[in-house]
Amino acid sequence: MYKFVTSNRHKFEEARDLASRHGIDIEWIQMKYEEIQDDSTERISYDSCKKLSGKVDPPYFIDDSGLFIEYLKGFPGPYSSYVSSTIGNEGILKLLEGVTNRSAYFLTVVSLNEGHSIMQFTGKVMGKISTSIMGSNGFGYDPIFIPDGSDRTFAEMDTSSKNAISHRSIAFRGLFEYLRANRISNK
Ligand code: IMP
Repeated sequence: MYKFVTSNRHKFEEARDLASRHGIDIEWIQMKYEEIQDDSTERISYDSCKKLSGKVDPPYFIDDSGLFIEYLKGFPGPYSSYVSSTIGNEGILKLLEGVTNRSAYFLTVVSLNEGHSIMQFTGKVMGKISTSIMGSNGFGYDPIFIPDGSDRTFAEMDTSSKNAISHRSIAFRGLFEYLRANRISNK
């Protein structure tokens, strides 16, 4: 089984749904780990993945994600976790009160440690920040993010609808296609 190291149950459930569509089983390694502060999601993801070697046997992978709001020059971006646990969705809506440019995107960078090297898979979804909190599914910023082409927030969708379009699904599709194509040893 391939190991997904994350303390976030929602991330694991989304990934498991995607993995099963590729005929792949994944195992949840429920573990918190330290993240460096950096303005690049790629570097944060790479660094966290590397530091887990010695603690988790490869092959394993992690997911680092963030919400980037155009009007706020990309904030919260790499600070998404801190902002979510401090000012939260209400705080983001306050920062955007009366603002018409509500464009934003979600980015996921999955890092896979194969043992000898680290590979990355990226997914991005464009959308906008809603004017109120809508929906109760999902987690984090889901209740305030409306992906392009939809009139519902991610929190108003079930896992499979979110997975049909999300940043995470794009990154994980890349990972699972790579694992299948390269037949990475499935311990
Ligand atoms: P991290 O990838 O766990 O560091 O996530 C950073 C922050 O973004 C956390 O507060 C998450 O709750 C939030 N986040 C990550 N992915 C998603 C998502 O798919 N939907 C909504 N919020 C997310």
